[in-house]
Amino acid sequence: ALMDIDIVSVFPEYFEVLNLSLLGKAQAKGLVHVSSHNLRDWTHDVHHSVDDTPVGGGAGMVMKPEVWAECLDELLGLAPQEIVETVHETAIPDNTDDIDDASVTEDADVAKHADDWPVLIFPNPSAPLFTQADATELSRKQHLIFGCGRYEGYDARIPEYYRAQDVDVREYSIGDYVLNGGEVAVSVMLEAITRLIPGFMGNAESIVEESYTGDNALLEHYQYTKPAVWRGMAVPSVLTSGDHGKVDRFRRDEALAKTSRIRPDLIEALDCTALDKKDRKA
Ligand code: ADE
Repeated sequence: ALMDIDIVSVFPEYFEVLNLSLLGKAQAKGLVHVSSHNLRDWTHDVHHSVDDTPVGGGAGMVMKPEVWAECLDELLGLAPQEIVETVHETAIPDNTDDIDDASVTEDADVAKHADDWPVLIFPNPSAPLFTQADATELSRKQHLIFGCGRYEGYDARIPEYYRAQDVDVREYSIGDYVLNGGEVAVSVMLEAITRLIPGFMGNAESIVEESYTGDNALLEHYQYTKPAVWRGMAVPSVLTSGDHGKVDRFRRDEALAKTSRIRPDLIEALDCTALDKKDRKA
């Protein structure tokens, strides 16, 4: 397969639906291969426990590092680490005062890891937002491993440990809201990533033109189909004029106006070089 995807979860059945629909077809065509694993398969106790109370107190449960590590060592093909000789306190960077430094190391990491290196991805509501650019980058990778956290999260040493082993580790939030666990977030990321794999979708052009893609980080213009008049509502007449230049201009203006209305943050973030002269008066 072009891409191997491992998913670790305490609800592996959740991912059975991936065999249906478009991802099912891509699996049948041999473009992707998805395996979902039950984290509890790596436990050794009778209760198959994967979580414990938070150190320092607080509500809820936190996923234990040992179980995750046995599982991830195996999926990453790393030798199991039984003996730890040095004990050091974790120094997790505080992103609040060092945002620039953090993004510099992130860029360096991206360059350091070739596309055939596995990428380990943890959905996490307290992480940077997952974007179309991330989906595009990850669609070129050969091996993605998703670790679904449940309950109140996972021990922070898990991603830190694998980063120290030179693994390309990512943590992403899919939006500013809280889900019960990572399963839905992984489904969202997987759909965004896999549809960008060459040969996955029939029509490559529909990907190029859509919102959030490339320089075109605008919301897409409105779409219409026939009939030209429906319940007294006519489609914009320029669309039936047959003048492709005018149609393009109309759609571009509409996209700009729509974006400034609905998502002014995207206009704010727009690269000025992505604008053309005629855009300026819009
Ligand atoms: N886990 C819980 N909520 C999440 C979110 N919004 N994004 C990613 N993972 C999550």
